[in-house]
Amino acid sequence: MKKILIPICLLVFQMTHAQKNMHLALTPPMGWNSWNTFATQINEKLILETADILVAKGMKDAGYTYLVLDDAWMASERNSNGDLQADPIKFPHGMKYIADYIHSKGLKFGLYNCAGTKTCAGYPGTRGYEYQDARFYASQEIDYLKFDWCNTEGIDAKEAYKTMSLALKKTGRPIVFSLCEWGTHKPWLWADSIGHLWRTTGDIGIKWEGLKNQGDWSANSVMKIVDFQEPLRKYAGPGHWNDPDMMEVGNGLKPEEDRSHFSLWCMMAAPLFLGNDLRKMSLETLKILTNPLAISIDQDSLGIPGFRLSQKDSLETWVRPLKNHSMAICFLNRSSKPISLDYDWKINPIQDDISKMDIDFKKDTFTITEVWGKIGSKNTKKNLKKTILPHDNVLLILTK
Ligand code: GLA
Repeated sequence: MKKILIPICLLVFQMTHAQKNMHLALTPPMGWNSWNTFATQINEKLILETADILVAKGMKDAGYTYLVLDDAWMASERNSNGDLQADPIKFPHGMKYIADYIHSKGLKFGLYNCAGTKTCAGYPGTRGYEYQDARFYASQEIDYLKFDWCNTEGIDAKEAYKTMSLALKKTGRPIVFSLCEWGTHKPWLWADSIGHLWRTTGDIGIKWEGLKNQGDWSANSVMKIVDFQEPLRKYAGPGHWNDPDMMEVGNGLKPEEDRSHFSLWCMMAAPLFLGNDLRKMSLETLKILTNPLAISIDQDSLGIPGFRLSQKDSLETWVRPLKNHSMAICFLNRSSKPISLDYDWKINPIQDDISKMDIDFKKDTFTITEVWGKIGSKNTKKNLKKTILPHDNVLLILTK
C-alpha cells in the first residue's frame, strides 16, 4: 500500500505546486518599485542611481534586494518578432544592460506587465504572448515579475495567472511572481500555488485614513488597506504573501504616520517595497526603512502575519507571533489626540487560533525590546506606560 501512496502524494504535490518555484520568497520579498513616486516617468539614469543608493545607504544590506521597474518601461509597440522591447528613449541601452548593472551590485531585477491586452498605462500587454514574454524575461535575466490586471475584460483570473506562472516556470529561471489583480477575484483563495505574493486591494495613496481622491479614481489610505488585509492573515505564509501594496513611507505622510505605516506592514508580514525617491530621502526616512528590529519582525521565519488583539478608544493592540516563542506587539494610536498608554499585561492574555499561541502574563514574564524609542520598561511584570502621539505607535519585541 505504501509503495503506491508515496508516488501519488508526490504527484499531487507536483501538480498543485507545479506552477511556481516554491523555494523563492520564503520570507516576504523586499525591494524598491518605481511606480509610487515616478509612475511613467522612469529612465535609465534614475534606475542606475537608485541601484547605487540601495547599496551605498545600506538598504541592500537591510534586505531590500529587488529593484522593480513598474509600468512604462516598454516601447509602445512590440518588435517585428513580436517581442517586447524597452523604450529606446528612456532606456537607450535596453533592459539587459539594466539587468547586468543591477546584478553587478548584488541586487535582483524585476519587471512589470499585465495579463490584459495592454498595461494600465497603455503599453503592450501579455495576453496571448505569455510564453514568448516569459522567454524574453528569462533572456533579460529578470528575477521578479509583477503582473497587473488592466484590460482583461472577459478573462478568468485564475487561468490567466496560472498560464503566466507556468510560462515562467518553463523558462527554468527562478522568477518571483507577483500577482497584482487588486484582490478582485480573491487570489488568497487560489494563488498560493501560482505566485509568491498577491495584492489584496486597489492602489495605495499618500493618506493615513479613508480614501484619496485622484480625479477619476480613489486610492486607498494606509489604514483602509490595513483594515481590509488583517482578516486575510490565515491565507499568507512562507512562499505566499498577502501584499498590501508598495509603501508610501517618505512620500509626505507625517513622521509618526510613516513609522506606523512601516510597523503595520511589518506586523502583517507584508512584502516591503520602497516607493519613495531614494535620491531625496531624509535621514529620518532612511532610519525608519532600515530599522533592523522592525525588519526582523517582517522577515520572521515562521511567516505568521499579526492580528488585532483589541481596539479600545482608538488604541489598537496588535500581536504577531515570532519564532522561538517570541512575539511582536504594536500599540497604535489611531486618533488625532495623544493617548496615555497604561497597559497591564496581566489582565491582557493573548490567544490565537492560527498560531496556537496562548499567553498568560500572570504566569510568564517576557523581556521587552523597543523598536522605535526607549520606554524604559524592561519586562512584562509592571504596566507599560507611555504617551503615544496621534497616529504614532509603540512597537515591541517580547522574548522569554
Ligand atoms: C495598477 C497597479 C499599480 C501600478 C499601475 C501601473 O494600478 O495596481 O501598482 O502597477 O497599475 O500602471
